[in-house]
Amino acid sequence: MTPGPTRPAGPRVPCIIVHGGAGADPGEGREELRDGIRAAVVAGFAVLERGGRSLEAVEQAVRVLEDHPRFNAGRGSVLTEAGTIEMDASIMEGDRLDCGAVAAVADVANPITLARGVLESRRHVLLVGDGASAFARRLGMPACAPEQLITDRRRAQHAEWMRKQAVPAGGGTVGAVALDRHGTIAAATSTGGMVGKLPGRVGDSAVIGAGTYADSTIGGVSCTGDGEATIRVVLARRALEYLKEADDPHYAAHVAIDLLVDEGRGSGGLILLDWRGRLGYAQSTPLMPVGWMTPARGGPEVPF
Ligand code: GLY
Repeated sequence: MTPGPTRPAGPRVPCIIVHGGAGADPGEGREELRDGIRAAVVAGFAVLERGGRSLEAVEQAVRVLEDHPRFNAGRGSVLTEAGTIEMDASIMEGDRLDCGAVAAVADVANPITLARGVLESRRHVLLVGDGASAFARRLGMPACAPEQLITDRRRAQHAEWMRKQAVPAGGGTVGAVALDRHGTIAAATSTGGMVGKLPGRVGDSAVIGAGTYADSTIGGVSCTGDGEATIRVVLARRALEYLKEADDPHYAAHVAIDLLVDEGRGSGGLILLDWRGRLGYAQSTPLMPVGWMTPARGGPEVPF
């Protein structure tokens, strides 16, 4: 790989970009998706504006979408073949490559906060299932009954899946990437996974390097889409390699999605932010809700 541009010292203009999952265009209800993305961008940017860390900004942005029932994360997560909920999440800070992830957790309202707890513990990177739940209790996170996270919409979708063994590619995984004033980049991703997945299946959103990656000397990435395909090509890390080579976020995002389709044999999307605060995004699906905010451009932009 050719060396990328060197990152000069000094304060940065903070910036955040958020996605709400690549998938089919639902046709109706876009305003609800826009409201959710806008609220997440505003929550994350508020952290950056007051001088807070990008790690906190991406966690707060993702929590807003985990709490929003229209997205496939936290409340509103899709159901497994067994009709249960199993959520994955990961978070990374790009200065020291600190990262944390959880997989197949059923009883926390905000898996991204649990993933951050794993990161802050600096003992492990990935906790799964009952072990992740036990760690949540150790951190003082209250247990949340899985029924509280399951919406009527997801019950109906599960019933349709059981009848047909297929439903339209739903999307709804959520993610955020932010750059703070100190030049630190963080990225976060959270999901309920795929409709009708086998219990125990873990997707890319829990896999550092596949669904999420951040390196403050290059940039940060959060992915969405077919988890198996994304893992196959280690998409988030590969997108940063393209970014380092080309120094062009828009180009890097598009080349990475070509890789996902051609070599990964799947579909999806990603958002990306480079160390200068330039953003890029791309998807191979009909829709990927995105939004972003920088001081230079005023209020949040939600161009979908
Ligand atoms: N990209 C989300 C999943 O496949 O689980």
